Parts: sequence; structure tokens; C-alpha cells
Amino acid sequence: MRQFTIEIPVTEATLEELSPEDRDLVLKARLQTETSYAPYSHFHVGAALRLDNGETVCGSNQENAAYPSGTCAERTTAFYAHARYPEAKFDTIAIAAVGTDGLELADPIAPCGACRQALLEYETLAGHDVRVILAARDRVYILPSVRSTLPLAFSEF
Ligand code: THU
Repeated sequence: MRQFTIEIPVTEATLEELSPEDRDLVLKARLQTETSYAPYSHFHVGAALRLDNGETVCGSNQENAAYPSGTCAERTTAFYAHARYPEAKFDTIAIAAVGTDGLELADPIAPCGACRQALLEYETLAGHDVRVILAARDRVYILPSVRSTLPLAFSEF
């Protein structure tokens, strides 16, 4: 028998400490929360995804009266990005959220398991790490890859 630990390296930073490109991505994710359609949860999530072709694709959560039919901001963004630019590889995704109190979250938002799995597919397709920036009101967490958010992930290829 053997026990081992899987560690996740997380970088905590203020917005000012980010590169201009990453800061811009976080601001775009924040802005995108305004396009969220969340009449049921009142939880507004925005995502901004930089691609290696120089484009940035943004998306937000889109809810539905039949609850499971809605999608999270991360999957809205990832699916649209790959549908729009099938040749482009994902580079970095930033995620921000405004809670039911109308304020950006005090702690960085963490993507749900289904979104981690969906993003992992595109990280695998890209053939390199896709950074994940989780934004909060006054700081961000930077994760080096999608895989780091999903230890022991299922992957067919
Ligand atoms: N949601 C996201 O868009 N991304 C996440 O990472 C977590 C949750 C959405 C789904 C639903 O519309 C609302 O937030 C409340 O769960």
C-alpha cells in the first residue's frame, strides 16, 4: 500500500500584479457577468477566454426554466470558442462572478466539476497547459492548468 498527495500550485495576486493581458482578461470576465441570464439563481458568472490566434471569446451563464438545461459561463464560453475558432488553441481563461447581493464575490469563484471536465478536453486538444484565473473582488487565484483543477481526471486521450 502506498499513500501519495496531489498538490495544486495556486498563485494569489492582486489585479495590479497581473500582466496587462491577464488584467484585461479578468476585466472582460467581470464585464461579461452583465450578460448572464440568471433569473433563477441570481448568480451572475462571466468568463473570458484568450485563444492563441489573438482572439478573446467571452460568455456567461445562461439558465433555463428546466434547470439542468442551462449552462455555466465556462462551458458557454468554451463551446462557443471552439465552434467559432475550431483551429485555435485555448490559452488562458478568466472567470468572475457577481453574487445574489449584487457584489463581485469576496473569494475567487471555482468552476464546477462539469466545467473543469469540459475545459480539460480543450486543454488536451491544445497540447499544452491552459491557465485558469479565478477572480474575486480584490484578488485572483491563478492556476497553471485545467488539469490542476481536476486531479485524477478522466481523459480518453
Ligand atoms: N455557474 C457558472 O456559470 N459557473 C460556475 O463555475 C459555477 C456556477 C452558474 C450556474 C448557474 O447558472 C449559477 O451559476 C448558479 O449555480
